[in-house]
Amino acid sequence: MKWNTLVAASGLFAPSTALLRFGCARLTVQRLDPLVNPGQIPSAHLHQIIGGNSFNVSMDIAKHDLPTLSTCTSCQFSEDFSNYWTAVLYFRARNGTFKRVPQIPQQGIESTQGGMMVYYMSDALFDTAQKSKVTAFKPGFRMLVGDSSYSSRDQARDYRQLTYTCMENSASRSPESIGFPKGPCKMAIMANHRFPTCWDGVNLDTPNHRDHVAYPEVGTFESGGRCPSTHPVKIPQILLETVWDTSKFNKKEDWPTDGSQPFVWSSGDSTGFSSHADYVFGWKGDSLQKAMDGHTYVSAPMLKTQSIAEQNKCIVPDMVKEPIDGWLPKLPGDVMVK
Ligand SMILES: *[C@@H]1O[C@H](CO)[C@@H](O)[C@H](O)[C@H]1NC(C)=O
Ligand SMILES: *[C@@H]1O[C@H](CO)[C@@H](O)[C@H](O)[C@H]1NC(C)=O
Repeated sequence: MKWNTLVAASGLFAPSTALLRFGCARLTVQRLDPLVNPGQIPSAHLHQIIGGNSFNVSMDIAKHDLPTLSTCTSCQFSEDFSNYWTAVLYFRARNGTFKRVPQIPQQGIESTQGGMMVYYMSDALFDTAQKSKVTAFKPGFRMLVGDSSYSSRDQARDYRQLTYTCMENSASRSPESIGFPKGPCKMAIMANHRFPTCWDGVNLDTPNHRDHVAYPEVGTFESGGRCPSTHPVKIPQILLETVWDTSKFNKKEDWPTDGSQPFVWSSGDSTGFSSHADYVFGWKGDSLQKAMDGHTYVSAPMLKTQSIAEQNKCIVPDMVKEPIDGWLPKLPGDVMVK
């Protein structure tokens, strides 16, 4: 079934399934990374962050309680004070200057300022039954998927399902590629970040922010693969979709003469293989677990929501204060393209 058909039809489904899908506006775009570079202003490369406004230079696992410290969230579900972030996409012109690629909010979240579509799933996106029991994250939980230092297809194999969709139109959801699309995409490039779905059941974090989570032992989350014995607890599949409006940069005469594609992540990666995303759990109380147990699909009547105008109002101050827009001679942080 096509995703669009599914969304259109979902309002009619009997309430017997569990999948959350909601928009979060941009909270801030700046060079901070409280997971990988805590305490460091600025961090290595530029990120776009969504979620609760307690996001800060440091978010100490023992002291930083996101729902308590936040006074607002940029997400539609107003009990979600989590933070989610990814790198930022830039266009590199022939003359070597860079321009930040704007974003297109998806259907239903049209007036959000930038941001992402966020999913929490019990089972594969297209499985309307969503029958599997999942354990929601605990306060303090955080994780990182992908590796900003990667630049080859072989390295990218460490992470399943960090992909790109070359969008012809707003309904395009396939095919997905592991590297950046090689040719111009008529509408946009969608970055898809799927996090691992098995947890060791013990650690809220690990030094590399990765070892406490794992992929299914066999198959994939989509195929219902079992979690390995080392990481036996099935957690929701988080998927972040970010639609980058690359259509403004599709003129052939602006693309590199050597036939390569012109987009780079703010981490300097021109291959797309360094795709990565960070998550710090911050749902209020047991609201996420209740929602995952709630047997709904897309809509979630048990959760509190807020208007897009309220979402857009939630921002955190710019602590780095450096130019990130206009034609820049270098990527923020003087990051070199590799
Ligand atoms: C960030 O942390 C600093 C130092 O603890 C604090 O003074 C500031 O208010 C925090 N900012 C936000 C937006 O919470
Ligand atoms: C570099 O190229 C871009 C895109 O063609 C153009 O808009 C910009 O003015 C150029 N900058 C310089 C310094 O030539």
